[in-house]
Amino acid sequence: MNQFEIKRLVDQAYEKAVLDKEEITALLAADISDLDYLLQKADQKREEICGDEVHLRAIIELSSYCKQNCYYCGLRKENEKLERYQLEKEEIIKTAQMAAELGYQTVVLQSGEDEYPAAEITEIINEIKNTTGMAITLSLGERDFAAYKLWREAGADRYLLKHEIADRALYEKYHPGMSFDNRIESLKYLKTIGYQIGSGVIIDLPGQTPEIMAEDLLLSQDLELDMIGSGPFIPHQQTPLKNGKTGTVEMTLKFTALSRLLLPLAHIPATTALGTIDDEGRQKALLAGANVVMPNVTDSKYRTKYQIYPEKICVNEEAGDCRQCIGGIIASLGRFVSQDKGHSLRQN
Ligand code: SAM
Ligand code: SF4
Ligand code: FES
Repeated sequence: MNQFEIKRLVDQAYEKAVLDKEEITALLAADISDLDYLLQKADQKREEICGDEVHLRAIIELSSYCKQNCYYCGLRKENEKLERYQLEKEEIIKTAQMAAELGYQTVVLQSGEDEYPAAEITEIINEIKNTTGMAITLSLGERDFAAYKLWREAGADRYLLKHEIADRALYEKYHPGMSFDNRIESLKYLKTIGYQIGSGVIIDLPGQTPEIMAEDLLLSQDLELDMIGSGPFIPHQQTPLKNGKTGTVEMTLKFTALSRLLLPLAHIPATTALGTIDDEGRQKALLAGANVVMPNVTDSKYRTKYQIYPEKICVNEEAGDCRQCIGGIIASLGRFVSQDKGHSLRQN
């Protein structure tokens, strides 16, 4: 694709938030050295829609038990080498309260699919809401619809459930025993009952192509996502995809920039996975359309045990260290940490 054609497509995306599958595919397949204009227009759109504020979401990794066997993930059930842990209710609440003291306005409760009792999650939501007022995002995998409803009624604001890859055959190959339809139905249901929904993908999973990533973006538009995230695939030695190739920074940035242009109102995180494969990865994403960072606040004694992928950053840091580090990164870009909860821009 020549520079003239790239400019035409980027301008169209910037002005109308519309591109068809072939056009998205062509941009994703183009060399990043030809795509300065794409990144620049995504940054401009981010500035117009979100301004210079960056929302922080504090992640508590509350359990590394998982009943699923996703082909790429170190927490998969069949990884017998991983030492598992599950935080007690009180510990989760205390960690959330500490995050609120550090100034966080949102807490993300994340875990493997370990069937943490739904009633206890409800109590945790109630207690965090009552004592901190923080926005609460749940990222507990697929649960039954009654549990989603119970937690929404208890005050949970958002649900984060990545669709991971829009190709049904690859989705079902990499998620044995799971169903693509159920994933998508869960997201739709969550939206219907009032959650702000976050989804997204793993970039460069083996077999993933620019065409599939174009479908990922079109599906994300259809789902009217409130947040869309993309992190590069990082192979883990105790998984079936151990010989896969690490995803690239370039493809992640292209996807991030197109996410901003095609879903202008979405919140877009600069992901930890991108920060893991490139020391400057989160900075680069923040300059390509991203407006959110999700620092870890889990006690450091658990961090190495939540090993989704190897060499994950921040495993030796404490919550206060990450808060300070991320504040420095954001300030170095001339941006600032938001003082509000950063609810969906679609509802404002
Ligand atoms: N169990 C929940 C779920 O699957 O939705 C939440 C926790 S799961 C560890 C969070 C995310 O980690 C997944 O959505 C997936 O995109 C990401 N992930 C897992 N393994 C990965 C890997 N090897 N490389 C990059 N991202 C990975
Ligand atoms: Fe479990 Fe989530 Fe990892 Fe899949 S991605 S194995 S559901 S923790
Ligand atoms: Fe954890 Fe930088 S965000 S050390």
